[in-house]
Amino acid sequence: MQNQPFSLMIPYPGFRPSHVDNHIVRHLSDLEGQFSNQDAYKQMLEKKDVVLYEVYEIKRPEIAGEILMGISIVHPGKVGDEFFMTKGHFHTILDTAEMYYCLHGEGFMVMETPEGESAVEPLAPGKVLYVPPRWAHRSVCSSRQEDLVTFFAYPANAGHNYGTIEDKGIRKIIIERDKGIEIKDSPHFNEKPISNE
Ligand code: F6R
Ligand code: ZN
Repeated sequence: MQNQPFSLMIPYPGFRPSHVDNHIVRHLSDLEGQFSNQDAYKQMLEKKDVVLYEVYEIKRPEIAGEILMGISIVHPGKVGDEFFMTKGHFHTILDTAEMYYCLHGEGFMVMETPEGESAVEPLAPGKVLYVPPRWAHRSVCSSRQEDLVTFFAYPANAGHNYGTIEDKGIRKIIIERDKGIEIKDSPHFNEKPISNE
């Protein structure tokens, strides 16, 4: 791994970085138990295990002092009324922040602390979002046709804790009904994991 300064391009309109070390592709089946309408989830999964989002990572040593960065692309779509979203996580080292810069699309960052505070920030091209230490974060794409594309950067030693949200869910959900887009309390937060049977 080079220890000289380096640069890369994030070309418009594809947004795939010119240098990528790791391409993560997450499917519907990776978010089992996370969408509130489980019947809609099952029906959709029976038809196709669609791709919900992709992450292009630029690797660095996962040690204090380094920064990890990359591009996150959440595709448009819904499970029932609920928009496609990322798994969401706390950082394993809770006291680590993250910054996002929205490059394309429309969406929201749903955030919460272990103490129960929550926040939902709309994302649109040009917006920089600072996720402070201790705040879990999940990206949601609320566009009908466009990907939500964000650039992110965070301390390389942060690590990811997915288990808390997998087990408990997250407090706020983003749905679309006749009235338009709504931010709602999740009906399943803090329950045992929703069975897929
Ligand atoms: C890294 C980070 C983002 C997410 C990406 C996918 O700390 O927050 O790079 O990893 O948006 O989301 P998750 O990791 O929740 O599947
Ligand atoms: Zn993160």
